[in-house]
Amino acid sequence: MKNNDRIQFATRLGAIAATAGSAVGLGNIWRFPFEAGTHGGGAFMLCYLVCIVVLGLPVLCAEFAMGRATRSNIFGAFRVLAPKSSWWMVGYLGIAASLMILSFYCVVAGWTIEYCAQSAIGALDFPEQSDYHRHFDEFKSGNWRPLIWTWIFLSLNFLVLRKEVTKGIERFSNILMPLLFVLLIVFCVNSLLLPTAKEGLTFLFKPDFSQITPSVLLGALGQAFFSLSIGLGCMMTYASYFRPQTNLVRTATISASLDTLIAILSGVIIFPAVFMFGVSPEAGPTLVFETLPSIFHHLPGGSVWSALFFFLLFLASLTSTISMSEISIAFFIEEKGMSRKSATVLTSAIAFIFGSLCCLSFGCLSNLTVNDLNIFGIFDYVASNIMLPIGGIFIAVFAGWKMPKLFLKKELTNQGAIRGRFYGVLLFALRWVAPIGIGLVLLNSIGLL
Ligand code: PHE
Repeated sequence: MKNNDRIQFATRLGAIAATAGSAVGLGNIWRFPFEAGTHGGGAFMLCYLVCIVVLGLPVLCAEFAMGRATRSNIFGAFRVLAPKSSWWMVGYLGIAASLMILSFYCVVAGWTIEYCAQSAIGALDFPEQSDYHRHFDEFKSGNWRPLIWTWIFLSLNFLVLRKEVTKGIERFSNILMPLLFVLLIVFCVNSLLLPTAKEGLTFLFKPDFSQITPSVLLGALGQAFFSLSIGLGCMMTYASYFRPQTNLVRTATISASLDTLIAILSGVIIFPAVFMFGVSPEAGPTLVFETLPSIFHHLPGGSVWSALFFFLLFLASLTSTISMSEISIAFFIEEKGMSRKSATVLTSAIAFIFGSLCCLSFGCLSNLTVNDLNIFGIFDYVASNIMLPIGGIFIAVFAGWKMPKLFLKKELTNQGAIRGRFYGVLLFALRWVAPIGIGLVLLNSIGLL
């Protein structure tokens, strides 16, 4: 879409709400705690924060600048800025990553619907912690049930993407996402009052430097990119709808801060409870689904809190899957000339097939593993820890070296209307810090360093 009169977000808040809608989701509330738990807590937290500020933020600003300058998707952005080069092929990496993420993401989103429904009928209230573990285990390995929820989630995603309920969902999520934030604060206070609060906080915030291994670094890098929705052109597409007056660096900083804050809140909720109820911090993808219900069980009116929370989490997941689906939909429409309907059907069909495989990898396909990772784990690992960082390198190198310098500066300062105090630092980060930093983490993790 090369026209300059695309619809734009009406307000400054619109841009922030949309980016936060994409960024905040299962990545913060489900993925962050389990990654932190399996990677040593404090050591992971430290690496994660460094990755967000030093590597993630510059790439986010670059995506914003490229998207708004070209008013285009990832393919178009590279094509407009570097015609007759092959840079546009980075778009394929973005599409592949987005489809892989969508495939495993919809499985977990399906779990949130199951837990919302179960809480609502009061079926998620057990006397013993071990029951929560057993219950989730039976559910996720039960083949049909999780599969049906995955399909239901994908169908809802499809309906939203077909624009049948977009307006409603926007209005809905503008009210309900702040409510999710309030709920997180309430649960946070509750966890801080647990007798194991100190233990949980020490685990999460006190880095044991000896634990900073290549795999912790890679995990933190992948989590930072996954959580900010960067490295695959998603934020580029969103920025193409920003107004010319939107302050890109400020919007990026606010979105990244909000996103990180929510991940930290989630960690503060989970870890004191992990120690209180004897859950293993290394439980992996099931961690949150085993711990949260125990927390709710001990709250007065627990089922109501639980149903509300899982509903809001489902909604947060939906605003994220919309953004990742839009990447391939925009590609099929703008590059392949499909109608919106066919593009949406095709994207959903791909997610339907691979999502089903990811879902069944906890059940009848659980024997298919590589390095102890099932299909779900492989999709997550390859997309988040490898493809997004590689996409990030390309975007940083392109914005730092290939994009005309003045062009980048003009975009970041709104054609000189705002002061570009951070421009020098940002350019340095894009040219040197991000490519070298990400490259070192990647090489280190495959044992080449
Ligand atoms: N950032 C989203 C989350 O934290 C996930 C996501 C990744 C969304 C990539 C879009 C693109 O849940």
